[in-house]
Amino acid sequence: MLLHLTGVLDAEALARAHALLADAPWTDGAATAGAQAVHAKRNEQLPPTCDAALALQSLMLGALERHPGFFSAALPKRVFPPMFNRYGGRTNTYGAHVDNAVRYVPRTGERVRTDLSATLFLTDPAAYDGGELVIDDTFGERRVKLAAGDLVLYPGTSVHRVEPVTRGHRVACFFWIESMVRGDDQRRLLHDMDRFLMHLRSTVGETDPGVVGLTGTYHNLLRQWVDT
Ligand code: NI
Repeated sequence: MLLHLTGVLDAEALARAHALLADAPWTDGAATAGAQAVHAKRNEQLPPTCDAALALQSLMLGALERHPGFFSAALPKRVFPPMFNRYGGRTNTYGAHVDNAVRYVPRTGERVRTDLSATLFLTDPAAYDGGELVIDDTFGERRVKLAAGDLVLYPGTSVHRVEPVTRGHRVACFFWIESMVRGDDQRRLLHDMDRFLMHLRSTVGETDPGVVGLTGTYHNLLRQWVDT
């Protein structure tokens, strides 16, 4: 399942992110690629513990916490500290690869199983050509290029790539989520049910017996599948 979350960063947060990125110490992205991915990866990244990255991480994590759709869609157990990359010039592409199943958090060594991959676009799509995130979905290839501040969530199991950026630079934030609900299908059912329940709450009201009953069913399904 691919999910597009709009407005995860608002205009003010985007301006703050761009200010932090202006003097950021970009380095070769190959340093953090796995054994297969390193052959495909040609981009730049922020060192994960530099001052700019740490300030950007807290900006991102705060925004994710406030976004109404993120919790429902991801049911996060652990979120890998967000990282930042840049594509352009000679370091402008990332060929087909699958992300490592387990990532180790810098400094703490905590393990995060990568149930979900996330990319938040930071650059206005009119400012660069190319740079689509291409994800092999069960329905075929999906090409993703979002407005600045928008996020795509996709299964960590997907083969994906970033097309060459042929004009300008594309800056994005990327990270992984270990979900309380490991299975993509179950997580999707819960997210759909939650969305339909929100719709019912706004139309028939919180106290409607159907809404009360279905809210119970949502939590009973979650209780069956959750792994805290
Ligand atoms: Ni990747």
